[in-house]
Amino acid sequence: MINIGNEIKTKDHVYINSNKSHAVLICGKRGSGKSYTMGVIVEELLDAEDVLVIIIDPMGIYYTMQQPNINQEQLLWDWGLSSKGVPVKVLVPGDPIELYGGREIVGAMERKGITFRTFKLNPSDLSPDAWCELFDVSISDVMGIGLFRAVQQLSRSKKNNFSVRDIIDSIGSDPLVADKTRQALVNRLEMAIDWGIFSEWYQELWEIFDKHSVNIVDLSVLDPGPLGRRNLILNVLAKDIFRRRTIARRKEELKLSDDLPKVWMLIDEAHQFVPSGKSTLSKEILIRWAKEGRQPGLSLLVASQQPSAIDSEVVTQCDVVIAQKLTNKDDISALNALNQDYMGGEMKTYIRGLKRKGEAVVVNDEEEKVRIIQVRPRKSYHGGAEI
Ligand SMILES: Nc1ncnc2c1ncn2[C@@H]1O[C@H](COP(=O)(O)OP(=O)(O)O)[C@@H](O)[C@H]1O
Ligand SMILES: [Mg+2]
Repeated sequence: MINIGNEIKTKDHVYINSNKSHAVLICGKRGSGKSYTMGVIVEELLDAEDVLVIIIDPMGIYYTMQQPNINQEQLLWDWGLSSKGVPVKVLVPGDPIELYGGREIVGAMERKGITFRTFKLNPSDLSPDAWCELFDVSISDVMGIGLFRAVQQLSRSKKNNFSVRDIIDSIGSDPLVADKTRQALVNRLEMAIDWGIFSEWYQELWEIFDKHSVNIVDLSVLDPGPLGRRNLILNVLAKDIFRRRTIARRKEELKLSDDLPKVWMLIDEAHQFVPSGKSTLSKEILIRWAKEGRQPGLSLLVASQQPSAIDSEVVTQCDVVIAQKLTNKDDISALNALNQDYMGGEMKTYIRGLKRKGEAVVVNDEEEKVRIIQVRPRKSYHGGAEI
């Protein structure tokens, strides 16, 4: 069970049932405690459950969970808890020394017990469509047609094993691609090589994850950029996990052995990845996680200061909503749209009643209940505080 805190009125523990998969929304204005609450859920998942925990971290703040929360010892004491770090694995798309600004910084982090793992994307893990979308070229214009065909042919002939260089070569030998188009495509593909996020040889992405640690995918090292590299990474990871869990689920039902654990993916600042009103490389697969993920054992948690900026297809799928202090009108009405019959009052009325940090309205479809809670203090160090 995931114990997120206590109901303020009754002091009862408040749980999210972890035997089931969920879609969870955490929202609240800046500084209301969203990232902190997300960390509480991660601690609980690591303690209790046989699940793989993945954090998508666009701000680079979660690696501090490796250390105990020595800043709030008194508060922890009041709750009958004590500070304790969790095992952390930081997954970095590229070379940590380059991305974090030098050997000295990486060395210091390693001495604190943080382990890094570099991962790269297999060019073949991106569909021909996704390649076009990555460079923002339409699959119906000359550039898009050339790129689409090159990737499609490579995936037919070389299966999984091709590099970006192979795509360049394939375009080079396609007599139907005009010189100018070829040059424009090659320029973009060369740029993609320079990003350093694509692998030269096939690597099973699943192998980068560690079931006994919190797997923190640090996207803060890539600029959000006009070409969505952050979204690209989430696209590939989320698709790969979805596919594997679907197969694992089938095996489980046939009583065939498979040791692929269920997965929780927790995304902070999630409006970057599933924004309302515009498309991104990661949006489609994340909507699919929210809608169909529970069956193959995939839980999705999205946290955002702006629920109105998250696509409503995700928000309306959430069976657990944790709303912290919110003041913006659009955001409150985005949540108010989630009113359930069992609530006995409007969401906005409950939210208005929240006062202190860590207080939240929790709406849980399984219990058919609304509770006003105080989120418990963190055992591990929270790195998101403003300086
Ligand atoms: N449940 C809580 N108990 C104690 N302190 C909290 C709690 N939630 C938040 N805080 C405090 O509030 C600060 C801001 O929280 P944070 O999660 O970083 O905000 P957000 O992600 O909503 O911007 C934290 O650094 C922490 O000190
Ligand atoms: Mg935050």
